[in-house]
Amino acid sequence: MRVILLGAPGAGKGTQCKRIVAKYGLLHLSSGDILRQERAAGTELGKKAQSYMDSGALVPDNIMVEMMVGAIEKVPEPGFVLDGFPRTVNQAEELDKALVSAGQKIDTVLNLKLDKHVVAQRLTGRRSCPQCGAVYHIKTLKPRVEGICDNDGAKLIQRPDDSLEVVANRLRTYQKQTEPVVVYYKKNNTVCDIDANRDADDVTDLIFENLDALIKA
Ligand code: AP5
Repeated sequence: MRVILLGAPGAGKGTQCKRIVAKYGLLHLSSGDILRQERAAGTELGKKAQSYMDSGALVPDNIMVEMMVGAIEKVPEPGFVLDGFPRTVNQAEELDKALVSAGQKIDTVLNLKLDKHVVAQRLTGRRSCPQCGAVYHIKTLKPRVEGICDNDGAKLIQRPDDSLEVVANRLRTYQKQTEPVVVYYKKNNTVCDIDANRDADDVTDLIFENLDALIKA
């Protein structure tokens, strides 16, 4: 199964991908996580991406396509779930070309729809574990001990691009460059709109309903 999760910053893509992976055994390919790992490792790619990420702009398409397409083509069964890629129509076109030459296709696109006014409260309250990547929220998904990861006891951190100013720019970037990707997929693919304003468990139920129906079809 090959799945794409689309959605504004803070829509819950990372949170839901982890649950999809746990249930369906798909490989989670998050372009944001890969870029953050490259930055932490101090690679050339990470250095190139830094200024774009910190300002809330997109990393140029040529860098992203090279980074993601090679990885996507090699994924074995049962498949993958993409989080954060593609994010421009150009990236979507390049992904389609690569999948066609590998004899593959996207089975479904899940579009997490979040009201604009919720984005800032989701992101400014997010805390992440630098060791295992677990994601929490100071109000909606609290760790057992404040500021400490439930899984490994590491001190939780706040992403540098989750400041109010950068969040506003990320949202503008999403509206200008990524909303057209939804329109692109609606032309040729099954796109399921999911109400991402709901409680995280309700969103998971809606996603699982869609994926279970796909498996049965
Ligand atoms: P990326 O890391 O992909 O950031 P994003 O798309 O802005 O998405 P987020 O990770 O911020 O949010 P999410 O939807 O995963 O939400 P989460 O589940 O964490 O990209 C970062 C940067 O990298 C980009 O700005 C860009 O510069 C660059 N980049 C990445 N990919 C690129 C590409 N393809 N091309 C070019 N540049 C690229 O949830 C957020 C919070 O809300 C958490 O605290 C969570 O606990 C909480 N929450 C989640 N769901 C719910 C719910 N239903 N109810 C209540 N709280 C919830």
